[in-house]
Amino acid sequence: MRCLITGASSGIGETIARRLAAEGHPVALMARRTERVREIAAELGSAIAVPGDVGSGEDCEAVVQRVVEAFGGVDTLVNAAGTWVEEPLHAATYEQIRRFVDTDVSGALQITRAALPQLMKGGGRLVHINGLQGLIRVRPPVLYATVESAVRGLCESLRWEAAPHGVHVGFITLGSVANTEAATPDMVVLHSGDERNRLSRDEVADAVLFMLSRPEGVNIDELVLTPLQQSF
Ligand SMILES: NC(=O)c1ccc[n+]([C@@H]2O[C@H](COP(=O)([O-])OP(=O)(O)OC[C@H]3O[C@@H](n4cnc5c(N)ncnc54)[C@H](OP(=O)(O)O)[C@@H]3O)[C@@H](O)[C@H]2O)c1
Repeated sequence: MRCLITGASSGIGETIARRLAAEGHPVALMARRTERVREIAAELGSAIAVPGDVGSGEDCEAVVQRVVEAFGGVDTLVNAAGTWVEEPLHAATYEQIRRFVDTDVSGALQITRAALPQLMKGGGRLVHINGLQGLIRVRPPVLYATVESAVRGLCESLRWEAAPHGVHVGFITLGSVANTEAATPDMVVLHSGDERNRLSRDEVADAVLFMLSRPEGVNIDELVLTPLQQSF
């Protein structure tokens, strides 16, 4: 699979990119931090850095074009680019709202739009990383629920638009993931007392690889992955 991974300069996206590269897939790493994606790509044998901002339609087009030039096409898009704003709506600045929507909503739409003509050439696969507030809207802030509901809507509806073109569309709804540097942190980081309340990035990557490795024509619409004792 010729893969484009967004959010590949850190966190979940970086771990997914490393895992796909370790399995021998050509991987293109997209994020805004140019030096960081270049460093990671240099470490991985079959990878290239494609710096860019998913909030810019021009960047998304240029990135896909660059991947096509390097690999001859794009078969798989994993969109893990994202940010977050913790403030409740009444306290969020307009700049925070704009940045969150630009990255997580417009960004998801734009990188998907840019990659779709490639994915539609045959058997393409698309996975978006999403969060639990798009499913269970019981926890603040409102901004999470708004953005994650939009990504859910994108994936659920795109599935029907893309299926006639042979494109598999799915998303992973995640509970809390340990925000530590290691992909596979010590279990203590994943537990609080005896309770498992964090996922590791490696466990998220396992789920992505599972989705991407289903036989042609089998679509996993959604995987919901939560640590057992997460309290919401
Ligand atoms: N961690 C969790 O507990 C959790 C739970 C549920 C869902 N999620 C979702 O999973 C996604 C990834 O989270 P994470 O924990 O891996 O966060 P992270 O470590 O902060 O990684 C975010 C990635 O997105 C990239 N990014 C941010 N804005 C971008 C933009 N405008 N254009 C291109 N790339 C951009 C960042 O790179 P640059 O700064 O270099 O651009 C970075 O590579 C997010 O959407 C998050 O909401 C996370």
